[in-house]
Amino acid sequence: MRIGISCFNQLRSQLGVSVMSIDVSKFRGSIPSGNLCEDAKIYEGTLPENLSGHVFIVAPYHRKNDSHLFMGEGVIIKWALQPQPGKIQVHSNKLKTWDSFWHWVQLPLGKLLPKAFFPARLGFLGVAEIANTAIVNMKGRLILTADAGRYWEVDPDTLKTITPIGYFDEHIISVPVSFFPMVANTAHPFYDPKTGELITCELKSKPRRENLFTDMVSAAYITFWDGKQKNYQDKNNTGIRHWELDGTVLDGSPHTTIVTEELVMIPDMPFQMGLATLLGLKIPLRKAYSKTQIYVVNRQDLNPDKATVPSRLVTFDGDSYHFLCNYHHIDGEIRMVAIQQATISLTEAIQPDDVKHFSGDRYYAEYYGIPWMFAFDPGVLRKVVIKDAQVIEEEALIHPGWFTTMLYTADPRELDDPKGYSAIYQVYAGYHQDLISRRQYLSFRDHENRVLTDKPLPQEDLPSVLAKVPLDKNWQELTKQIETEQEQNPDIPVSDLGKELLDFYVCDEGSVLVSIQFIPQDRGYIFTTVFTPKGSEAWLFAADNLSQGPIAKLSLSEDINFGFTLHSEYFQEISPRKSTYNVNRLSSALRSLTKVPYEFFFNRRNDIFKRKV
Ligand SMILES: [Fe+2]
Repeated sequence: MRIGISCFNQLRSQLGVSVMSIDVSKFRGSIPSGNLCEDAKIYEGTLPENLSGHVFIVAPYHRKNDSHLFMGEGVIIKWALQPQPGKIQVHSNKLKTWDSFWHWVQLPLGKLLPKAFFPARLGFLGVAEIANTAIVNMKGRLILTADAGRYWEVDPDTLKTITPIGYFDEHIISVPVSFFPMVANTAHPFYDPKTGELITCELKSKPRRENLFTDMVSAAYITFWDGKQKNYQDKNNTGIRHWELDGTVLDGSPHTTIVTEELVMIPDMPFQMGLATLLGLKIPLRKAYSKTQIYVVNRQDLNPDKATVPSRLVTFDGDSYHFLCNYHHIDGEIRMVAIQQATISLTEAIQPDDVKHFSGDRYYAEYYGIPWMFAFDPGVLRKVVIKDAQVIEEEALIHPGWFTTMLYTADPRELDDPKGYSAIYQVYAGYHQDLISRRQYLSFRDHENRVLTDKPLPQEDLPSVLAKVPLDKNWQELTKQIETEQEQNPDIPVSDLGKELLDFYVCDEGSVLVSIQFIPQDRGYIFTTVFTPKGSEAWLFAADNLSQGPIAKLSLSEDINFGFTLHSEYFQEISPRKSTYNVNRLSSALRSLTKVPYEFFFNRRNDIFKRKV
């Protein structure tokens, strides 16, 4: 008889054996009804009395046949921070995109397709629109995003899904000829409060010449949206606009659009998609370029009368997944932090024929579809200074006990600060031997971005950590000081090193921090969701004193099971939606069958540039 990991851990707890590994059965969330209001009980500590505003977090909602952890429609979870006696209110609702319909219609046909362990799926009707990855606060408008599929707008008050953003033929299409063509974009567009525009990137894919069926390259477009439907009578009402990066081809895809007051930057990240991957076929992709490469565009070159824009390429060490970039330039320099992690791949996941690297054992079914997001190498935070498209300074913070960089946050009040951000708050998910498959190990053991190339891997799991890393310190020196401390104090648990140097909190065994959001009130607070051996919780930290631990812990009832949460956003005020922006879903799908293929195959830039929608 097979025993599930959750039962196994329960049994071990009852026997008094410490539970080392994460209970992965809690990763997959589901909510019984679409619209759920619950209380989260404060079971430890207190919330500050004057706490206010809302934190929105998004998670994938799993259905029976969703195989990848990031697959499934989004669930929006709203935390009303204003404390009531002993509790706060949590409201959640499913995001209702085309995805449910797509999933339902092709469920019987889907059995004919290979079982894919990939978040974006191509089917007979096109590509699912999941919008389950991140959230943007567009001046009070709640926008849900993903790396594949249009963005969707939700009413922040009722959490009702309102509309997709743009008809398909207003977007750059990556994979055409279907009701639901693929819009490959980025989960992290940037809302520029100065101009009121959402700035993002869209890709037009084509098979790679050397690997026609297994790999794709893309032309990259910068996309601006003013929040309105285009109106030809009104020159100030521009709708969605695109500029192609002239002569630029991306090997992978951007996960982020990085924006400053002067520039738009498009990273080319090792997140490669081939037609084969989308169809679930197991054909290896071409190896991605291992360094970080970013295409830099001057905002003043985005001429409304031109279809293309020149870009310059910047390259630096490490493979980056997220970026925290100052909005204002300092002495003409761009200052950013690249959040890096070697030995992971989000397009790969544990599959039924995988075995664990450290024990050689097979995985239980609960593990299938968990991406290779847990590393066997320390995480890297790389501070980079760029001037005139050249990297002029670089410092890396590497802590020998902090593995698996996940999500991060920073004080949003500092976006407009001429000095920029003062600190990054970074979640490390830890090192969990059970979650490293042999395939993952073999893929990355000799990777050039690895830190531990000449050192043995830790023999025991390492805990999840929340760290505040000030930007005004020298990170190279910090790294050296922590290394020296390790040499001089071999008995200090490796994750605890550096307590005199940095403010951080080390979680107990079995607890893993997931989403993280800065609450810009008073001294600042950090709101996190956490997997604990008892279930999903939310913890609140004082941003200026992480090491004291959470100042409040909130528990959730069994009814609320969000599973693995992703990105988040803070709204100080919520007001009823004023915008009348609306895209008709049916005519959008029908137009995708006529206008989109013509434009895609004839590929005349002017067709895109002079669209009349
Ligand atoms: Fe992200």
